[in-house]
Amino acid sequence: MKANMTTSTSRVWLVLLIGLLLFGCVGPPQKLTPADMSITKPEASSVVVVHSRTGNTALMGHLISEEMNSDFIRLDVPEGSQDSVLSVPNRNEDMEITPQKIDLSEYELVFLGSPIWFMHPTAFIYSFIKSNDLTSKKVVLFYAYGGGLAEKAIEEWKGLVRQSGGTVIDVIGIDCSDFETDEALQSEVNVMIERKKSIWMSDENQ
Ligand SMILES: Cc1cc2nc3c(=O)[nH]c(=O)nc-3n(C[C@H](O)[C@H](O)[C@H](O)COP(=O)(O)O)c2cc1C
Repeated sequence: MKANMTTSTSRVWLVLLIGLLLFGCVGPPQKLTPADMSITKPEASSVVVVHSRTGNTALMGHLISEEMNSDFIRLDVPEGSQDSVLSVPNRNEDMEITPQKIDLSEYELVFLGSPIWFMHPTAFIYSFIKSNDLTSKKVVLFYAYGGGLAEKAIEEWKGLVRQSGGTVIDVIGIDCSDFETDEALQSEVNVMIERKKSIWMSDENQ
């Protein structure tokens, strides 16, 4: 039953995407200031790295960072690269992002977040993973989407993390179309984090 629902939601998304492609544009990306891009926490042993266009995935990242006392980095992307559906890069394209590479030596746990575009995570988070050495890092993947995800999308994402040396210990996703306000989304994400926190901190995941 659940599988059927996922397939039909994916079909709806496919039709929507074709519509978006025909009309060529989506709403504008969030306007950001330097303060939105990076937050440093005292004694952080984890970091959140997130790509987000309209702020949903960044909101998830912020809440994780608050609860886990993680440093927070929002990836900056090349000008114009996410202005319209026609300008967004294929997920396998190598993209210049800022920062491209970070010093991960202080972190045991790395949270990597992306919205879902064309049924997959974006080229920006993929480029970050490909540019960084995740050897011996525990990794939690998180994503925001509208209900349409390719069947193998998460496996592909995990595979990239593995190729960079990391171990994915958990994956969380939020269907933002289920929430009418940021507050409702926020409280669902907080419930999710509360439920997952002990798994993320467990020594068994070394
Ligand atoms: C170019 C583009 C393609 C998208 N493709 C999908 C998709 O395939 N499946 C889906 O569920 N949502 C899709 N979405 C919706 C986003 O995943 C959703 O709005 C998400 O919450 C955006 O996260 P953000 O606010 O962090 O950018 C797409 C959005 C854009 C802009």
